Amino acid sequence: ALITMRQLLDHAAEFGYGIPAYNVNNLEQMRAIMEAADHTNSPVIVQASAGARKYAGAPFLRHLILAAIEEFPHIPVCMHQDHGTSPAICQRSIQLGFSSVMMDGSLLEDGKTPSDYDYNVEVTRRTVEMAHACGVSVEGELGCLGSLETGMAGEEDGVGAEGVLDMEQMLTDPEEAADFVAKTKVDALAIAIGTSHGAYKFTKPPTGDTLAIERIKEIHARIPNTHLVMHGSSSVPQDWLAIINEYGGDIGETYGVPVDEIVEGIKHGVRKVNIDTDLRLASTGAIRRYLAQNPSEFDPRKYLAETVKAMRDICIARYEAFGAAGNA
Ligand code: G3H
Ligand code: 13P
Ligand code: NA
Ligand code: ZN
Repeated sequence: ALITMRQLLDHAAEFGYGIPAYNVNNLEQMRAIMEAADHTNSPVIVQASAGARKYAGAPFLRHLILAAIEEFPHIPVCMHQDHGTSPAICQRSIQLGFSSVMMDGSLLEDGKTPSDYDYNVEVTRRTVEMAHACGVSVEGELGCLGSLETGMAGEEDGVGAEGVLDMEQMLTDPEEAADFVAKTKVDALAIAIGTSHGAYKFTKPPTGDTLAIERIKEIHARIPNTHLVMHGSSSVPQDWLAIINEYGGDIGETYGVPVDEIVEGIKHGVRKVNIDTDLRLASTGAIRRYLAQNPSEFDPRKYLAETVKAMRDICIARYEAFGAAGNA
């Protein structure tokens, strides 16, 4: 059934678990997520970025999600728009039937330039007013995502601030968060606590302090009734990096957010955990390995089935680690 983010996250908060929110662009990702959710009996949040709409086309994307709901009627599914850059974009997604939207007012409409606070409040407040009138949930964002190690926002071509960020921008201020939530009435708030988008988050192996966990605790203590969202939450599995590089890829040494640190965040109010890169790495590794080992094979279903398997295993592991399993 199609369900709002608010309904899912209220349940997650009541029972103290987190829900991975996976980006979807194609059939294989959608199947992997649903098969994993079915296998573990987990609620689903799937999200579509502007890039996803450009790749698949909005109607295909919409029907992909509706098809998932039809095939798995017993699994609650939230259809979320990721990183909307204006109230108008959020409005279009609401008209398309999304049950939840993100108004990312931490950046201007270009999705690159950090905005000022009043702009963020204004676009987010307007989006909430419109969305709530339609029974749709809203996620806002306060602070700029950036790696505390590198000071970089991450991905070149995705959503994210340009250039090097300073520490202040990269950590959401608890007092400002309280004011923001009071003024905008968002259902969930994405916070900047040391993560960044993409595969290149950290250059050194994690030592347990990847996330600004103290800051998460402070924010949660200040706004205990607001569901917190962590973007840039891929763990960048080292086994898949090794497979990619073994079979002709060339990805340098890089690290993500350890699953156990995310689990710690979930103990302190994090309810939605955004993951895209991990599924990209797994599917690329699976394709490279399959084609290298089966050089005469040319039926796309053969190697795409391998990607579904690879992504499904990651989804199952996250549903279980975050405590979502058993809560559909
Ligand atoms: O926010 C970043 C997500 O990973 C979506 O990436 O904009 O390349 O689809 P994308
Ligand atoms: P990753 O790049 O870490 O998977 O983050 C995805 C994300 O935050 C989508 O909004
Ligand atoms: Na989002
Ligand atoms: Zn994001």
